[in-house]
Amino acid sequence: MTRKIIIDTDPGQDDAVAILLALGSPELEVLGITCVAGNVPLALTSKNARIVCELAGRRDVKVFAGCDRPLLRPLVTAEYVHGKTGLDGIPLPEPTMALQDQHAVDFIIETLRSEAPGTVTLCPLGPLTNIATAFRRAPEIISKVEQIVLMGGAYFEVGNTTPAAEFNIYVDPQAAEIVFKCGAPVVVVPLDATHKALTTRPRIEAFRALGTPVGAAVASWTDFFERFDMAKYGSEGAPLHDPCVIAWLLRPDLFEGRFINVEIETHSELTMGMTVADWWRVTKREPNALFLRDVDADGFYTLLTERLARL
Ligand code: RIB
Ligand code: CA
Repeated sequence: MTRKIIIDTDPGQDDAVAILLALGSPELEVLGITCVAGNVPLALTSKNARIVCELAGRRDVKVFAGCDRPLLRPLVTAEYVHGKTGLDGIPLPEPTMALQDQHAVDFIIETLRSEAPGTVTLCPLGPLTNIATAFRRAPEIISKVEQIVLMGGAYFEVGNTTPAAEFNIYVDPQAAEIVFKCGAPVVVVPLDATHKALTTRPRIEAFRALGTPVGAAVASWTDFFERFDMAKYGSEGAPLHDPCVIAWLLRPDLFEGRFINVEIETHSELTMGMTVADWWRVTKREPNALFLRDVDADGFYTLLTERLARL
């Protein structure tokens, strides 16, 4: 029985690897890829998603453009990490597959209305603007969501965009608040987990050794993507954030976490977008999210490389 997912994304090299991992995994049926403004503006994220689908030989995948800015705050992008195109690293052909005409938010609403309850998992890999907009426009779809498995937030690892906030949540804290309070089952893959899934030379060479266009692209993207984090953290590699979401769907046993209360700072500029995770249960706030903190990095990279080999 395949698992139906919608990937909501702002490609970004790590998003691109997550999309490839999903397309290389027969356990998953990608109903659609909905794009949002984040790492780079919407015109580029919706172009990059199609570049990735064509690289995987999957022109059949439906790609939708969604919200081009956060609900309330001005858009903040991350070209300093991902490059001007958002997919710097290796020149890839311009996409020839078309975007779907339908807006991403309408696709999310329509899909949740038409699929059986509890059979569609949402996998947000960027700011949560599309998801929150869908929930505000059609609240009745929330109860039909199987799970929301998202990359975002940080607690012990603290922020990567401000001292308090991780990028996806920081860009659209109001959207994050809507999603974290919506009542659907939420699984959070925060920096606490993804920072333990660092690239290394051997792991990148294993991608390149696949000897395929996918392997070459993933190796080049990670070569490009890791330079920023290595300079910033002095680490030997960079965290491949977004593929951890797809890996959790395939092998949750590779991860560890706790079902706790997680709330979003939306008032203070100082801590705007912070995921306030009650890891030690010091409050009486109701648990609302499985918050992951650990990952078996070797198991993750073995799974990722094995699946990329299938494309
Ligand atoms: O903070 C990391 C997250 O922000 C990742 O999803 C990356 O792609 C960017 O969107
Ligand atoms: Ca992303």
